[in-house]
Amino acid sequence: MAKKKSAGKSKIGGRMKVKKVRIPQKEEVKMELKISAIEEGTVIDHIPTDSTFKVVEILDLENQNGIVSIATNLQSKSIGKKAIIKVAGKNLTQEEVNKIAIVAPDATVNIIKNYGVREKIKVKAPDSIENVVKCSNPVCITNNEQVPTKFYVVKKDPLKIKCHYCERSMGKEDIRII
Ligand code: CTP
Ligand code: ZN
Repeated sequence: MAKKKSAGKSKIGGRMKVKKVRIPQKEEVKMELKISAIEEGTVIDHIPTDSTFKVVEILDLENQNGIVSIATNLQSKSIGKKAIIKVAGKNLTQEEVNKIAIVAPDATVNIIKNYGVREKIKVKAPDSIENVVKCSNPVCITNNEQVPTKFYVVKKDPLKIKCHYCERSMGKEDIRII
């Protein structure tokens, strides 16, 4: 049977020589883990980790043609753990920014042009939310007839919203995007 070549090892004069592998220092590892800068597009920063994929849904990133980078469970000084989403070649509409505010009240939306941060927008939760979130009450009219949902924002952080039709109160964990 042919001898298996073992990676990183070579036989010199009958003795096995193990190649030395340099272990990167902590700072270098941190640099490697950062997702690369983008030339044009949008960076959504300071997203709470549990809202990462809600933002993906809101922006319909599944159907995006350009490069999309999603990094979650990153260490953040301000919010503990956070996520960053970078979308090359996309500008957000005001409606999309408002929707992000519902699930990520501390998010910043950075507009990138020619590798620089052209504009930094601090999102702001709207006072009412129309046709974005599903009502969690199965007997609510919005779940049984062609009626667009409408919620009032009772509290912004942590989020508490109330259905205009059935008055059901919902927290962040109940939120399902339409
Ligand atoms: N960024 C990027 N591509 C660029 C420029 C910036 O992906 N060409 C990203 C950075 O990695 C960062 C975000 O955009 O996640 C905002 O950039 P910047 O304002 O330079 O970073 P901070 O000062 O850390 O932002 P903040 O003060 O909002 O925390
Ligand atoms: Zn309802």
